[in-house]
Amino acid sequence: MSWRTASKVKWLELLPGVSEDEPLASRTSFGIGGPADFFVEMSRPQAIEEVIDGCVERGIPYLLLGAGTNLLIADAGVEGLVLRVVNREHQVDGREVRAGAGLKMMRLARIAADAGLRGFEFGIGIPGTVGGAVYQNAGCWGKELREVLVEVEGYMPGAGAKTWSPADLQFGYRTSALREGRLKGGLVIEAKFQLERGDGEAAKALMAKLTKERNETQPIKTKNSGSVFKNPPGDSAGRLVQAAGLKGAREGNAVVSTLHGNFIVNEGGATAVEVRRLIERIQAEVRRRFNLELETEVEMVGRFKG
Ligand code: EPU
Repeated sequence: MSWRTASKVKWLELLPGVSEDEPLASRTSFGIGGPADFFVEMSRPQAIEEVIDGCVERGIPYLLLGAGTNLLIADAGVEGLVLRVVNREHQVDGREVRAGAGLKMMRLARIAADAGLRGFEFGIGIPGTVGGAVYQNAGCWGKELREVLVEVEGYMPGAGAKTWSPADLQFGYRTSALREGRLKGGLVIEAKFQLERGDGEAAKALMAKLTKERNETQPIKTKNSGSVFKNPPGDSAGRLVQAAGLKGAREGNAVVSTLHGNFIVNEGGATAVEVRRLIERIQAEVRRRFNLELETEVEMVGRFKG
């Protein structure tokens, strides 16, 4: 059933800067996905909060979008409103760093190093935004966001502004209470991190080394969504995909990377259906060979059938 009624559409049409049937593929790192019924970019927290409250009151579905890096958007697009959060303000105060949800993790890693702080170098391996990184406790090279996070200024539709501690956020491996717990539907406005004072040049050298390593082991110059699957406890999804003989496996223009088995690459014009078919093929083969369930890390959103 469609969410559309004349009054909801009218309300959305009046949002400043809104566009209708806005293509989303170019706003995701996969380069895949149909249009948003309505789309808006916003940076001012209060404006974001008002719009989300307006959607909740009216029963309009909404999706918060950051850098679109861990996302597979359906070919038929996304219903309701897609709100791209672009608040990128940041502030360094001693060892404390505050960053808006829309700031890229990679940018924040450089900002921290420039300020002579250590401990955020892992951020250089995370293509998404601060908001997205909190949402799924993003990590790289054995470090996770929760290790440096002090608190989050958030907003819960209907309940107003909130300050969430790491305990409130119930972080797990690539997840938080925002992704699948009691804070679902909440939004990240700003995150506060506590880092170590140190040698900024050493931080930059480490980031350069880690980036080189990532370049050699992951297909980072391609259109992809990052890791497709979570690593099963004690193992690596990439290793399992390789052992199942699926590197290079293809559905249309979606291909399992030959460099790293846990990446699916859009060679150009791949559809979400093709990617999903490839994901299901991998899951079935890994189940058959190793009796293991590979859980997806990539989030599928929008009008998927079935
Ligand atoms: N491996 C293979 N074949 C492959 C890929 C990997 O045998 O095709 C082996 C590697 O040789 C290594 C082991 O599997 O012995 C682990 O591989 P890797 O070091 O590449 O790390 P990963 O577990 O595959 C994780 C994160 C990445 C993060 C890297 C680097 C997950 C699902 N993935 O990958 O995060 O960049 O470590 O720290 O936790 C992401 O979350 O999107 C992501 C890219």
